[in-house]
Amino acid sequence: MTWTELLKRDHEVTERVLAAGEKAFAAKGGPTNAFIGMLVDYVTHYVDRCHNQKEEQHLFPLIEKRGIPSIGGPLAVMLAEHRQAKEYVAAMQPLTTAVLGGDRARLAELGKIFADYTELVKGHFWKENDILYPMALQVMQPEDGDAVVRGIEKLEASLGPGIRARYYKLADDIVAAVDLEDLAYGLDRKTLAAMLNALPLELSFIDADDTVRYFSHEHGDKIFGRTRGAIGTKVQNCHPQKSVHLVNQILAEFKAGKRSVAEFWIDMGPRKIHIRYWPVRDPDGRYLGCMETVQDVSGIQKLSGQRRLLDA
Ligand SMILES: [Fe+2]
Ligand SMILES: [Fe+2]
Repeated sequence: MTWTELLKRDHEVTERVLAAGEKAFAAKGGPTNAFIGMLVDYVTHYVDRCHNQKEEQHLFPLIEKRGIPSIGGPLAVMLAEHRQAKEYVAAMQPLTTAVLGGDRARLAELGKIFADYTELVKGHFWKENDILYPMALQVMQPEDGDAVVRGIEKLEASLGPGIRARYYKLADDIVAAVDLEDLAYGLDRKTLAAMLNALPLELSFIDADDTVRYFSHEHGDKIFGRTRGAIGTKVQNCHPQKSVHLVNQILAEFKAGKRSVAEFWIDMGPRKIHIRYWPVRDPDGRYLGCMETVQDVSGIQKLSGQRRLLDA
Protein backbone atom coordinates (compact mmCIF):
# COMPACT_ATOMS: atom_id res chain seq x y z
CA MET A 1 0.00 0.00 0.00
CA THR A 2 1.06 3.58 -0.58
CA TRP A 3 1.38 6.03 2.30
CA THR A 4 -1.94 7.70 1.41
CA GLU A 5 -3.69 4.33 1.35
CA LEU A 6 -2.20 3.41 4.74
CA LEU A 7 -3.19 6.68 6.40
CA LYS A 8 -6.63 6.85 4.76
CA ARG A 9 -7.34 3.29 5.86
CA ASP A 10 -6.55 4.38 9.45
CA HIS A 11 -9.02 7.23 8.97
CA GLU A 12 -11.75 4.94 7.67
CA VAL A 13 -11.35 2.42 10.47
CA THR A 14 -11.30 5.21 13.05
CA GLU A 15 -14.40 6.88 11.59
CA ARG A 16 -16.28 3.63 12.07
CA VAL A 17 -15.08 3.40 15.67
CA LEU A 18 -16.15 6.98 16.37
CA ALA A 19 -19.56 6.38 14.81
CA ALA A 20 -19.99 3.30 17.02
CA GLY A 21 -18.98 5.39 20.05
CA GLU A 22 -21.50 8.11 19.19
CA LYS A 23 -24.22 5.53 18.84
CA ALA A 24 -23.31 3.86 22.14
CA PHE A 25 -23.33 7.16 24.05
CA ALA A 26 -26.66 8.12 22.47
CA ALA A 27 -28.28 4.79 23.38
CA LYS A 28 -30.45 4.46 26.47
CA GLY A 29 -28.24 3.79 29.51
CA GLY A 30 -25.10 4.69 27.56
CA PRO A 31 -22.17 2.40 26.76
CA THR A 32 -21.15 -0.49 28.97
CA ASN A 33 -17.90 -0.30 30.92
CA ALA A 34 -16.38 -2.91 28.63
CA PHE A 35 -17.26 -0.79 25.60
CA ILE A 36 -15.82 2.38 27.16
CA GLY A 37 -12.62 0.50 27.95
CA MET A 38 -12.22 -0.58 24.32
CA LEU A 39 -13.12 2.83 22.91
CA VAL A 40 -10.73 4.83 25.10
CA ASP A 41 -7.98 2.28 24.51
CA TYR A 42 -8.43 2.72 20.75
CA VAL A 43 -8.37 6.53 20.66
CA THR A 44 -5.49 6.72 23.15
CA HIS A 45 -3.16 4.03 21.88
CA TYR A 46 -4.04 3.91 18.21
CA VAL A 47 -5.27 7.33 17.06
CA ASP A 48 -3.21 9.54 19.34
CA ARG A 49 -0.02 7.59 19.90
CA CYS A 50 0.18 5.69 16.62
CA HIS A 51 -1.74 7.29 13.73
CA ASN A 52 -1.07 10.92 14.59
CA GLN A 53 2.57 10.12 15.29
CA LYS A 54 2.96 8.53 11.85
CA GLU A 55 2.04 11.91 10.41
CA GLU A 56 3.94 14.07 12.89
CA GLN A 57 7.15 12.08 12.66
CA HIS A 58 7.22 10.89 9.08
CA LEU A 59 4.92 12.97 6.87
CA PHE A 60 4.71 16.51 8.21
CA PRO A 61 8.49 17.13 8.57
CA LEU A 62 9.06 15.81 5.06
CA ILE A 63 6.50 18.01 3.36
CA GLU A 64 7.74 20.96 5.37
CA LYS A 65 11.19 20.24 3.92
CA ARG A 66 9.56 20.25 0.45
CA GLY A 67 8.23 23.74 1.01
CA ILE A 68 4.89 23.56 2.83
CA PRO A 69 5.30 25.92 5.80
CA SER A 70 4.48 24.58 9.27
CA ILE A 71 3.42 28.04 10.43
CA GLY A 72 0.25 29.71 9.22
CA GLY A 73 -0.94 27.13 6.66
CA PRO A 74 -2.81 23.82 6.48
CA LEU A 75 0.10 22.04 8.17
CA ALA A 76 -0.13 24.38 11.16
CA VAL A 77 -3.88 23.70 11.37
CA MET A 78 -3.26 19.92 11.31
CA LEU A 79 -0.67 20.19 14.10
CA ALA A 80 -2.96 22.38 16.22
CA GLU A 81 -5.76 19.85 15.77
CA HIS A 82 -3.48 16.99 16.84
CA ARG A 83 -2.68 18.98 20.02
CA GLN A 84 -6.35 19.67 20.66
CA ALA A 85 -7.21 16.00 20.11
CA LYS A 86 -4.46 14.99 22.54
CA GLU A 87 -5.99 17.29 25.17
CA TYR A 88 -9.38 15.66 24.74
CA VAL A 89 -7.83 12.20 25.01
CA ALA A 90 -5.99 13.29 28.18
CA ALA A 91 -9.25 14.63 29.63
CA MET A 92 -10.94 11.27 28.95
CA GLN A 93 -8.47 9.36 31.14
CA PRO A 94 -9.54 10.39 34.71
CA LEU A 95 -13.22 10.28 33.68
CA THR A 96 -12.77 6.78 32.28
CA THR A 97 -11.07 5.65 35.48
CA ALA A 98 -13.94 7.12 37.50
CA VAL A 99 -16.68 5.55 35.36
CA LEU A 100 -14.99 2.15 35.22
CA GLY A 101 -14.50 2.41 38.98
CA GLY A 102 -18.28 2.57 39.38
CA ASP A 103 -19.00 6.30 39.24
CA ARG A 104 -21.55 6.20 36.39
CA ALA A 105 -22.55 9.78 37.24
CA ARG A 106 -19.46 10.94 35.35
CA LEU A 107 -20.64 9.22 32.15
CA ALA A 108 -22.28 12.36 30.74
CA GLU A 109 -19.04 14.33 31.13
CA LEU A 110 -17.13 11.62 29.34
CA GLY A 111 -19.76 11.53 26.60
CA LYS A 112 -19.46 15.29 26.09
CA ILE A 113 -15.67 15.12 25.69
CA PHE A 114 -16.00 12.16 23.37
CA ALA A 115 -18.52 14.08 21.24
CA ASP A 116 -16.21 17.13 21.01
CA TYR A 117 -13.29 14.87 20.18
CA THR A 118 -15.29 13.07 17.48
CA GLU A 119 -16.36 16.30 15.83
CA LEU A 120 -12.77 17.54 15.75
CA VAL A 121 -11.32 14.29 14.42
CA LYS A 122 -13.93 13.81 11.70
CA GLY A 123 -13.24 17.28 10.32
CA HIS A 124 -9.52 16.71 10.67
CA PHE A 125 -9.58 13.49 8.63
CA TRP A 126 -11.61 15.17 5.94
CA LYS A 127 -9.08 18.02 5.66
CA GLU A 128 -6.20 15.57 5.47
CA ASN A 129 -7.82 13.32 2.87
CA ASP A 130 -9.07 16.11 0.66
CA ILE A 131 -6.59 18.95 1.16
CA LEU A 132 -3.34 18.10 2.92
CA TYR A 133 -2.54 14.74 1.29
CA PRO A 134 -3.20 15.95 -2.29
CA MET A 135 -1.07 19.01 -1.50
CA ALA A 136 1.70 16.77 -0.13
CA LEU A 137 1.61 14.59 -3.26
CA GLN A 138 2.22 17.68 -5.39
CA VAL A 139 5.40 18.72 -3.60
CA MET A 140 6.85 15.28 -2.86
CA GLN A 141 9.81 13.89 -4.79
CA PRO A 142 9.55 10.39 -6.34
CA GLU A 143 11.55 8.78 -3.51
CA ASP A 144 9.52 10.43 -0.73
CA GLY A 145 6.50 8.11 -0.88
CA ASP A 146 8.58 5.04 0.04
CA ALA A 147 10.30 6.99 2.81
CA VAL A 148 6.93 7.79 4.40
CA VAL A 149 5.83 4.14 4.12
CA ARG A 150 9.09 3.01 5.79
CA GLY A 151 8.62 5.63 8.50
CA ILE A 152 5.09 4.38 9.17
CA GLU A 153 6.35 0.80 9.41
CA LYS A 154 9.17 1.83 11.76
CA LEU A 155 6.81 3.78 14.00
CA GLU A 156 4.38 0.86 14.17
CA ALA A 157 7.20 -1.59 14.96
CA SER A 158 8.38 0.64 17.81
CA LEU A 159 4.96 0.33 19.45
CA GLY A 160 5.00 -3.47 19.58
CA PRO A 161 4.44 -6.25 17.06
CA GLY A 162 1.29 -6.17 14.97
CA ILE A 163 -0.08 -3.00 16.52
CA ARG A 164 -2.14 -2.11 13.45
CA ALA A 165 -3.68 -5.58 13.14
CA ARG A 166 -4.44 -5.63 16.86
CA TYR A 167 -6.17 -2.27 16.84
CA TYR A 168 -8.05 -2.96 13.59
CA LYS A 169 -9.35 -6.09 15.32
CA LEU A 170 -10.31 -3.99 18.34
CA ALA A 171 -12.07 -1.57 15.98
CA ASP A 172 -14.09 -4.46 14.54
CA ASP A 173 -15.04 -5.54 18.06
CA ILE A 174 -16.12 -2.00 18.96
CA VAL A 175 -18.25 -1.66 15.83
CA ALA A 176 -19.73 -5.14 16.23
CA ALA A 177 -20.64 -4.45 19.88
CA VAL A 178 -22.89 -1.62 18.76
CA ASP A 179 -24.14 -2.84 15.41
CA LEU A 180 -25.08 -6.38 16.29
CA GLU A 181 -27.80 -5.13 18.58
CA ASP A 182 -29.38 -3.10 15.80
CA LEU A 183 -29.34 -5.47 12.91
CA ALA A 184 -31.97 -8.01 12.16
CA TYR A 185 -31.09 -11.66 11.51
CA GLY A 186 -27.81 -11.34 13.44
CA LEU A 187 -25.94 -10.08 10.39
CA ASP A 188 -23.05 -7.85 11.28
CA ARG A 189 -22.14 -4.77 9.36
CA LYS A 190 -19.26 -6.41 7.51
CA THR A 191 -21.41 -9.24 6.19
CA LEU A 192 -24.15 -6.87 5.17
CA ALA A 193 -21.65 -4.62 3.36
CA ALA A 194 -20.16 -7.67 1.61
CA MET A 195 -23.62 -8.76 0.50
CA LEU A 196 -24.35 -5.35 -0.99
CA ASN A 197 -20.96 -5.37 -2.71
CA ALA A 198 -21.82 -8.75 -4.26
CA LEU A 199 -24.89 -7.34 -6.01
CA PRO A 200 -24.43 -6.88 -9.77
CA LEU A 201 -25.35 -3.21 -9.45
CA GLU A 202 -23.89 -0.20 -7.70
CA LEU A 203 -25.82 1.36 -4.86
CA SER A 204 -25.69 4.79 -3.29
CA PHE A 205 -27.89 6.11 -0.58
CA ILE A 206 -28.77 9.63 0.52
CA ASP A 207 -30.70 10.21 3.73
CA ALA A 208 -33.92 12.14 4.29
CA ASP A 209 -31.89 15.38 4.47
CA ASP A 210 -30.38 14.70 1.02
CA THR A 211 -26.94 13.95 2.51
CA VAL A 212 -24.85 11.21 0.88
CA ARG A 213 -24.45 8.38 3.43
CA TYR A 214 -23.32 5.30 1.59
CA PHE A 215 -22.10 3.84 -1.63
CA SER A 216 -21.25 0.23 -2.48
CA HIS A 217 -18.34 -1.34 -4.37
CA GLU A 218 -15.91 1.16 -2.87
CA HIS A 219 -12.83 -0.87 -3.74
CA GLY A 220 -14.00 -2.31 -7.04
CA ASP A 221 -14.24 -1.05 -10.58
CA LYS A 222 -17.24 1.19 -10.80
CA ILE A 223 -19.36 2.48 -13.66
CA PHE A 224 -19.55 5.85 -11.91
CA GLY A 225 -16.49 6.56 -9.72
CA ARG A 226 -17.16 7.83 -6.21
CA THR A 227 -14.73 9.11 -3.61
CA ARG A 228 -15.22 8.81 0.12
CA GLY A 229 -15.19 12.61 0.27
CA ALA A 230 -18.76 12.51 -1.10
CA ILE A 231 -19.97 10.96 2.16
CA GLY A 232 -21.53 13.65 4.32
CA THR A 233 -22.08 16.15 1.50
CA LYS A 234 -25.44 17.25 0.10
CA VAL A 235 -26.40 15.37 -3.04
CA GLN A 236 -27.09 18.66 -4.83
CA ASN A 237 -23.34 19.40 -4.56
CA CYS A 238 -22.41 16.13 -6.29
CA HIS A 239 -24.41 16.81 -9.45
CA PRO A 240 -23.71 19.12 -12.37
CA GLN A 241 -25.58 22.39 -11.90
CA LYS A 242 -27.71 21.78 -15.00
CA SER A 243 -29.25 18.62 -13.54
CA VAL A 244 -29.80 19.84 -9.97
CA HIS A 245 -33.39 20.91 -10.69
CA LEU A 246 -34.11 17.35 -11.86
CA VAL A 247 -32.58 15.86 -8.70
CA ASN A 248 -34.67 18.23 -6.57
CA GLN A 249 -37.84 17.37 -8.46
CA ILE A 250 -37.33 13.62 -8.01
CA LEU A 251 -36.58 14.01 -4.29
CA ALA A 252 -39.59 16.28 -3.76
CA GLU A 253 -41.88 13.76 -5.49
CA PHE A 254 -40.44 10.90 -3.42
CA LYS A 255 -40.89 12.83 -0.18
CA ALA A 256 -44.46 13.72 -1.14
CA GLY A 257 -45.20 10.07 -1.95
CA LYS A 258 -46.02 10.94 -5.56
CA ARG A 259 -43.45 8.73 -7.24
CA SER A 260 -42.07 5.24 -6.62
CA VAL A 261 -39.19 5.15 -9.09
CA ALA A 262 -37.32 7.48 -11.49
CA GLU A 263 -35.35 5.78 -14.23
CA PHE A 264 -32.93 6.71 -16.96
CA TRP A 265 -30.78 4.78 -19.38
CA ILE A 266 -27.71 5.96 -21.22
CA ASP A 267 -25.05 4.57 -23.57
CA MET A 268 -21.45 4.36 -22.39
CA GLY A 269 -19.48 3.04 -25.33
CA PRO A 270 -20.94 -0.39 -26.11
CA ARG A 271 -22.65 -0.60 -22.72
CA LYS A 272 -26.25 0.24 -21.85
CA ILE A 273 -26.36 1.71 -18.35
CA HIS A 274 -29.62 1.67 -16.41
CA ILE A 275 -29.84 4.24 -13.61
CA ARG A 276 -32.74 4.14 -11.21
CA TYR A 277 -33.71 6.11 -8.11
CA TRP A 278 -35.88 4.57 -5.42
CA PRO A 279 -37.50 6.10 -2.37
CA VAL A 280 -36.60 4.18 0.80
CA ARG A 281 -39.30 4.08 3.45
CA ASP A 282 -39.59 2.51 6.89
CA PRO A 283 -42.40 0.02 7.63
CA ASP A 284 -44.65 2.94 8.58
CA GLY A 285 -44.09 4.58 5.21
CA ARG A 286 -41.83 7.34 6.54
CA TYR A 287 -39.30 8.56 4.00
CA LEU A 288 -35.76 7.53 5.03
CA GLY A 289 -33.92 8.60 1.91
CA CYS A 290 -33.25 7.79 -1.71
CA MET A 291 -31.30 4.91 -3.17
CA GLU A 292 -29.64 5.04 -6.57
CA THR A 293 -28.90 1.85 -8.47
CA VAL A 294 -26.55 1.85 -11.46
CA GLN A 295 -26.42 -1.30 -13.56
CA ASP A 296 -24.82 -2.40 -16.80
CA VAL A 297 -27.76 -4.13 -18.48
CA SER A 298 -26.14 -4.85 -21.87
CA GLY A 299 -25.89 -8.58 -21.12
CA ILE A 300 -29.48 -8.74 -19.87
CA GLN A 301 -30.72 -7.00 -23.03
CA LYS A 302 -29.12 -9.71 -25.17
CA LEU A 303 -30.68 -12.68 -23.33
CA SER A 304 -32.93 -14.86 -25.46
CA GLY A 305 -34.27 -18.39 -25.21
CA GLN A 306 -33.47 -20.20 -21.93
CA ARG A 307 -30.50 -21.64 -20.06
CA ARG A 308 -31.45 -24.28 -17.54
CA LEU A 309 -28.06 -25.94 -17.01
CA LEU A 310 -24.86 -24.65 -15.44
CA ASP A 311 -22.50 -23.18 -18.00
CA ALA A 312 -19.05 -24.71 -18.44
FE1 LIG B 1 -3.67 14.07 11.35
FE1 LIG C 1 -4.55 11.51 9.80
